Amino acid sequence: MEILRFGPDDSDRLAQHLEIVNAARAVDAPWEHPATLRGQEGRFRHGWDGEVETPYVGLDEGTPVAAGQIATTDYDNLHLAWVGVQVHPDHRRRGLGTAMLEELLTEARARGRTSVGIDGWDDEAPRGFATRHGFEQKSSAIERRQRLDEVDWATIERLRAEASGVAKDYEILRREGRTPDHELEELALLASAINDAPTDDLDIEDEVFSAERMRGYETAQLARGHRMFRVWARHRETGEQAGHTVVLVEEERPHLAHQHDTAVVRAHRGHRLGLLLKTEMNLWLREVQPQLAEISTWNAESNDHMIGVNDAIGYRVVGRELEFQKSL
Ligand SMILES: CC(C)(COP(=O)(O)OP(=O)(O)OC[C@H]1O[C@@H](n2cnc3c(N)ncnc32)[C@H](O)[C@@H]1OP(=O)(O)O)[C@@H](O)C(=O)NCCC(=O)NCCS
Repeated sequence: MEILRFGPDDSDRLAQHLEIVNAARAVDAPWEHPATLRGQEGRFRHGWDGEVETPYVGLDEGTPVAAGQIATTDYDNLHLAWVGVQVHPDHRRRGLGTAMLEELLTEARARGRTSVGIDGWDDEAPRGFATRHGFEQKSSAIERRQRLDEVDWATIERLRAEASGVAKDYEILRREGRTPDHELEELALLASAINDAPTDDLDIEDEVFSAERMRGYETAQLARGHRMFRVWARHRETGEQAGHTVVLVEEERPHLAHQHDTAVVRAHRGHRLGLLLKTEMNLWLREVQPQLAEISTWNAESNDHMIGVNDAIGYRVVGRELEFQKSL
């Protein structure tokens, strides 16, 4: 297999990579929507917050058979590289996954990283492959989905009313699109609250957020063709930002939305803000994005509090992912 590293301008390689990702997805996780060319191009051009993964494609006499990615950040976790490997279902158990992984581990070492993470759906192949390569399972994450045509809106409204009765000290605000510059510093503090979410046995450090990184995140997500909706809570007495939740709606497939961070700053926990923010988001999106069919979200399996909120508003499990790590 010939392994080629490429960038977002290489449309042929991008299409080959997409072909592998979707062939694997159809077999390994049929509940997942196929990736799109625009989505993948945006992913490798803009990343999550401006830092981009590097994609690879593996060709067997010109036919794409494997895909790979490596991600590292310079903001924090300088010891870590996160990699991904997908092999076309018709070409498995021929050592191609191993060859792609080795290429990615070489790149991780070249970047000075000493630890590598990889994830896969909770299945025999990812478990066997990870174990074979010396990775240990360190965490698990659950994907849940809220189907808006099945949501019990009376429950959402009741939960919002109950939560707002408890959270009287907070004003709830909505914003579509960018955060103004003068609020970015405070938004970074708010975003840092995500570091309190459980990371189980993963050897990872707290993420470091700054105004610049928040700007990078919003710029990247908008450039990728998402509409961004943020609901946040401000403590009336001090004016502090107490919590937020962010949902992105795909422009290309406006019936699909993705839950990003929901976080409440420690000093403001215990006032039902999590539930209030998420129910408020649901009611706002029903009004302004009536075409929306579903919202997908990810949580560490051990994140009881957030999962409790999600269960209450009708999110249902669609998949379980395992996260593995090893030191190099
Ligand atoms: C996991 C995956 C990348 C493996 O690709 P592959 O090309 O079949 O892997 P290899 O042929 O290099 O396998 C290397 C070893 O991994 C283990 N392994 C791979 N698939 C396995 C399976 N289905 N069951 C048990 N062990 C498996 C075996 O030890 C195998 O060696 P062997 O074939 O000599 O027994 C492939 O199944 C895939 O694309 N899955 C979906 C994406 C994914 O989950 N990627 C990340 C997994 S951590």
